[in-house]
Amino acid sequence: MEFSVKHGQARKQKTACLIVGVYAGRTLSERAADLDKAARGALTRLVQRGDVSGKVGEALLVPEVSGIDAERVLLLGVGKREGIAAEEYQKLIGKAAEALKGASLRSGMSTLLDVTVKGRDLRWVVDQHVSIFAAQTYKFTEFKSKSDSHGLARLALLVDEKSVTDVRAALAVARGKVTGTQLLKDLANRPANHCTPSYLAEQAEALAERHDSLTCNVLEEADMEALGMGSLLSVARGSRQPAKLITLEYKGRDDDAKPIVLVGKGVTFDSGGISLKPGPAMDEMKFDMTGAASVLGVMAALAEIGPAINVVGVVPATENLPDGNASKPSDVVTSMSGQTIEILNTDAEGRLILCDALTYSARFEPDVVIDIATLTGACVVALGDQATGLLSNNDELAEALLASGQRTGDRAWRLPLWDEYQKQLDSPVADMANVGGRNAGTITAACFLARFTKDYRWAHLDIAGTAWGSGKNKYATGRPLPMLLDYILARADRA
Ligand code: BES
Ligand code: MN
Ligand code: ZN
Repeated sequence: MEFSVKHGQARKQKTACLIVGVYAGRTLSERAADLDKAARGALTRLVQRGDVSGKVGEALLVPEVSGIDAERVLLLGVGKREGIAAEEYQKLIGKAAEALKGASLRSGMSTLLDVTVKGRDLRWVVDQHVSIFAAQTYKFTEFKSKSDSHGLARLALLVDEKSVTDVRAALAVARGKVTGTQLLKDLANRPANHCTPSYLAEQAEALAERHDSLTCNVLEEADMEALGMGSLLSVARGSRQPAKLITLEYKGRDDDAKPIVLVGKGVTFDSGGISLKPGPAMDEMKFDMTGAASVLGVMAALAEIGPAINVVGVVPATENLPDGNASKPSDVVTSMSGQTIEILNTDAEGRLILCDALTYSARFEPDVVIDIATLTGACVVALGDQATGLLSNNDELAEALLASGQRTGDRAWRLPLWDEYQKQLDSPVADMANVGGRNAGTITAACFLARFTKDYRWAHLDIAGTAWGSGKNKYATGRPLPMLLDYILARADRA
């Protein structure tokens, strides 16, 4: 979708549909009142008749209004004039998008930036328009032999002349976020036979090709061997597809400011390996690379937005399949850190590839490291599809990520990472086991990773419940890109 900024009188706007607010208690907003005057009270009559009350999200499409230049008007309930909650605003923007789509319109214009949202600024309301309209018009059609390309394609934002510059700046950021989100979704939705580790590496290289601020480096299995990444390679052994370790560096500053390092789990299909998963819903394990997709999405967004900060993305990518050469329960492998691991369950493969990627990440002398992974089914049981699991060895970093989640609505919830849980990983033969039993599965997975992140400030995001929907909503949600990007941009603003 294309987004643009306009200013001027509401009645003079040429658009297929002008979206204007009606406050609770049947009061027209200023823009609606302007149309009403031109239409000699036609909108007032509709409101008085009770066709629209002003309740948040209530919509009435008026197909023709005389005296104005817009072809249609969408009257939309925007609640109390004093202000509404962020969630209510998101709901009404969603309704506006639905109404335009429902009427098969190609374009529209919103005046809803006038609505007061409690605790949110102009940048946020612009972002909500762009993010919600883009999400509602996103389609994944590459593998459909027929697809209709028609749909909502353009949205203009009508604002006061004095806000035009600010809105333009906010739009540029929001557009970058959409670019990143769409890359994330396209990669994650892509079937596993079309989204292999090599494909991810090619996409990362293509991204770096397009942007001067990005450089890409891909390690092959032989390189990983030389670095001693025995844990990562043990997962790749069961697959015919070669594993890749992808690094994408975004340089937004000339100095050597320490980077934020993002590490994304890139298991392009997780069958469980020799500890094979049950059949039902195994197809959803094509999404087991959504952590990787989030990292590439964030890097694409940064390259477009251009904030003054340094960020490195690291993606260990492999399949997890059963094979004569695959790891077996009881195998012991040596990680890059030198620590040995007894593999009790080959389905706990995410931590096996992440641990080596986390050890590798130290070479970037990170300010902080954040890993993103569809790591445990236990996280889905604990938090469902609402909150991402957050575990961290640093309170300040954890608080900042939680705050970014609150601001964007892409929320996380922190779980404890107490030492007492570590003993669940005890192994009689190796330094640790790769699983810690049934209890506290999300925490023991993070405890495993914590043994490889002692040298820096680190947070782990378990997105198993939030990354995609099931059933007929079997699509990537775009999470946790909003949280991550908000965190990074806030850090860049402060620098
Ligand atoms: N990719 C899965 C985690 C997962 C499962 C995400 C279901 C979303 C939905 C991960 O590799 C895995 O298989 N984890 C195991 C760990 C267990 C063997 C300790 C799990 O959660 O069952
Ligand atoms: Mn698994
Ligand atoms: Zn997995």
